[in-house]
Amino acid sequence: MNERRKILVVYFTQTGQLKRIIDHVLAPLEGKVDITFEQLVPVTPFPFPWGKQQFYDTMPETVQGTPRGIQPLKVDVNTPFDLVILAYQPWFLSPSQPTAAFLQSEAAARLLKDKPVLTLLGSRNMWLNAQEKVKGYLEKAGAKLVGNIVLVDKSPNLVSLITILRWAFKGKKEATRFLPQAGVQENEIVTAARFAAPIEKALAEKQWNELQPQLLSLNAVELIPNLVVLEGNGISAFRFWAKFISAKGGPGAPARQGRVFMYRGLLLVGIFVLTPITLISSLIKLNLKKNQLQREVEYYKGITLR
Ligand SMILES: Cc1cc2nc3c(=O)[nH]c(=O)nc-3n(C[C@H](O)[C@H](O)[C@H](O)COP(=O)(O)O)c2cc1C
Repeated sequence: MNERRKILVVYFTQTGQLKRIIDHVLAPLEGKVDITFEQLVPVTPFPFPWGKQQFYDTMPETVQGTPRGIQPLKVDVNTPFDLVILAYQPWFLSPSQPTAAFLQSEAAARLLKDKPVLTLLGSRNMWLNAQEKVKGYLEKAGAKLVGNIVLVDKSPNLVSLITILRWAFKGKKEATRFLPQAGVQENEIVTAARFAAPIEKALAEKQWNELQPQLLSLNAVELIPNLVVLEGNGISAFRFWAKFISAKGGPGAPARQGRVFMYRGLLLVGIFVLTPITLISSLIKLNLKKNQLQREVEYYKGITLR
């Protein structure tokens, strides 16, 4: 008799959005495979809703990959899982701190070595650099990235920024007269069940090469070219600010709060003033360097690490 395939799902979520995405993706597999869930729990919780200063104070260590610790995992790291699903969200263009803490842990090294890994993201829309970081961690752990599914908020960039900040700072997700509901659109979450079939097939055959092309044919990753340009500019600025702020002390240190405050102000000005400007410059780039940008888009849709 064939033994059931075993999936481990490692995830962290603040609002539950990512868990809902996971549940919809995996619903068709229920009763057919053994699924173990491992929720990452930070030793000191991150607040939700966030205080503004606290939110921005979390940036430097997130960008620098020096996260707050997580509690020991419950799962037996010697279990022979057939697939690991790493479900995570980007924070400040980087993997969220609990995700980075997991990927740096001894337990992850044991769980991920020689394992096929599928990444599943629930984000606003800026996830490219975070996924590059995750690819690096997975390579280091000797894991094989076999697929990537990304759910994003499909509202225009500035709209999703306003709604997510309202959600993060006030806990208000619902639509208003002028704004849509925050987060990934409900329809995107519910229809994520379409990804189960190729996962099930790859899992049954233990053949992973065709998984990502099949996921892509189901629009598992949709990418707007000008976000590639925007994110490239953004991460350089974040790295500068991360260094500048952390030079004055660790998370929450009173001595660095002035710099965090400066970053807060400039980020918002930067986003609201520079977004339209970068949009224009990226439109020009888009025309001048169309082929190069198209190659970038194809790369980010893939699962290789350059
Ligand atoms: C501190 C913080 C930073 C975030 N930065 C980004 C980001 O850089 N790119 C992005 O697409 N989404 C970003 N988000 C949105 C998250 O990726 C995620 O979609 C949202 O927080 C809901 O996730 P949850 O499953 O943890 O509730 C950020 C959220 C938080 C709380």
